[in-house]
Amino acid sequence: MKQETIVCKSIKKSFTNGGKSIEVLHDINLTTYEKEMIMLMGPSGSGKTTLLSIIGGLLDQDSGECTILGQSINQLEEDIKTEFRGKNIGFLFQHFILVPTLTAVENAVVPLLCLGAPRQEAFSRASEILEQLGLGDQLHKKPGQLSGGEQQRVALARGFIHNPAIILCDEPTSFLDIDRGKKVMDILQRMKDETNATIIVVTHDQRILPFADRIVHIEDGVITQKS
Ligand SMILES: Nc1ncnc2c1ncn2[C@@H]1O[C@H](COP(=O)(O)OP(=O)(O)O)[C@@H](O)[C@H]1O
Ligand SMILES: [Mg+2]
Repeated sequence: MKQETIVCKSIKKSFTNGGKSIEVLHDINLTTYEKEMIMLMGPSGSGKTTLLSIIGGLLDQDSGECTILGQSINQLEEDIKTEFRGKNIGFLFQHFILVPTLTAVENAVVPLLCLGAPRQEAFSRASEILEQLGLGDQLHKKPGQLSGGEQQRVALARGFIHNPAIILCDEPTSFLDIDRGKKVMDILQRMKDETNATIIVVTHDQRILPFADRIVHIEDGVITQKS
């Protein structure tokens, strides 16, 4: 049987806006398995980014439980949580932030160096991934010299360079044309097959749906359909 990786049970989350509390996630139940690519779809404002942030331990739920690889992540102490996240979870969020003073390859290599990988090995792995993403000529350019789509691919490389068990992507193909978008999805799919990763992709992009093992729909903070 396939191993469970993310287990969300009865997740609720509210935000306070102008003194008023609004419940954004009502009762989210979701279980994912290793070697699974899940597309999370839903209208703007339906709670997709909020859910991804809770799963990634960037945001605490108000109630319910979310376990990642058997670990209830929001109960970990802050420094242990950071270490757990760094090792096990890769992020590609919509508002990806690259370090402006570092080159593409230097940005991509950061997670490996943080985990203590030997420098030369880390840099050659970063270069290899960036080459696969079509950025072989841009390795030594800084973010300001790259297009939005190129920056997004650097952020993607940084998100999975350390082979995390969980990869969370928020609209990873939104800046990319169809060919580049498919290339990114090909790479994620290969990651999944090679490392047994669980990948959650939030997307509006119908064109990448064929890559999904499972599609989950969310609407107004409720999962409405799993297929
Ligand atoms: N930090 C926050 N403070 C207040 N409201 C928020 C915050 N983050 C998200 N929201 C609100 O929660 C709802 C869901 O947001 P979000 O998860 O970003 O939706 P999606 O990613 O599906 O577009 C939206 O109405 C949004 O305005
Ligand atoms: Mg969002």
